[in-house]
Amino acid sequence: MKVAPSILAADFTRLAEEINRVDESGVSYLHVDIMDGHFVPNISFGPDIVKQMRKLTNIFFDVHLMITDPKKYLNAFINAGSNSITYHYETNVNHYEMIDLIHNANNKCGISIKPNTNPEEIIPYLDKLDLVLVMSVEPGFGGQKFMTNALDKIRFLDKYRKENNLNYQIEVDGGINFDTAKLVKEAGADIVVAGTYLFRSNDFKEKALEIEKL
Ligand code: DX5
Ligand code: ZN
Repeated sequence: MKVAPSILAADFTRLAEEINRVDESGVSYLHVDIMDGHFVPNISFGPDIVKQMRKLTNIFFDVHLMITDPKKYLNAFINAGSNSITYHYETNVNHYEMIDLIHNANNKCGISIKPNTNPEEIIPYLDKLDLVLVMSVEPGFGGQKFMTNALDKIRFLDKYRKENNLNYQIEVDGGINFDTAKLVKEAGADIVVAGTYLFRSNDFKEKALEIEKL
């Protein structure tokens, strides 16, 4: 199991130190939540901050775009140093085109589904994706409670990839702690996003490694 700490839960007055905590823990990814106040009822930060963060670390940036118009801002995040772009299925884009644009920019491509979206809707795109991000909270805020309806979606996506010989990764985002990480691992997930659980703790590294051992 891989962990992607979500920088959204970091102390932004000490961003460089927070990024150091991530680097020192040895995790493979940093999850970067982008919110536009329109697709979700909250605003986080934009590409300039991502670019500043890129100067501080070489870690893999797993960028999660919770924005209404991901196509419009795609290049800004790619130029800021993203390694993977995950945008939402519920946006009004041509998915085949978006996936190509992201891949042509040498980024991994993920599609995310909100809690009320049926994973069967993304079947046409699964053979082209590197990642599916299953939201286990309504996107917009950190610190919410894990929604157990994510588990059936993970099981479906895991079964589907086995039956069809596909190799997209399954990532789960929202309300992750050790116990919920265990549940999603058992359901077939490969990566968990964890914000509050890691950043609002004094033993970031121990907690991250405990999950990675699952
Ligand atoms: C929610 C974001 C999450 C969030 C997770 O909209 O996509 O990545 O940062 O935060 P926790 O781990 O606190 O639920
Ligand atoms: Zn996220």
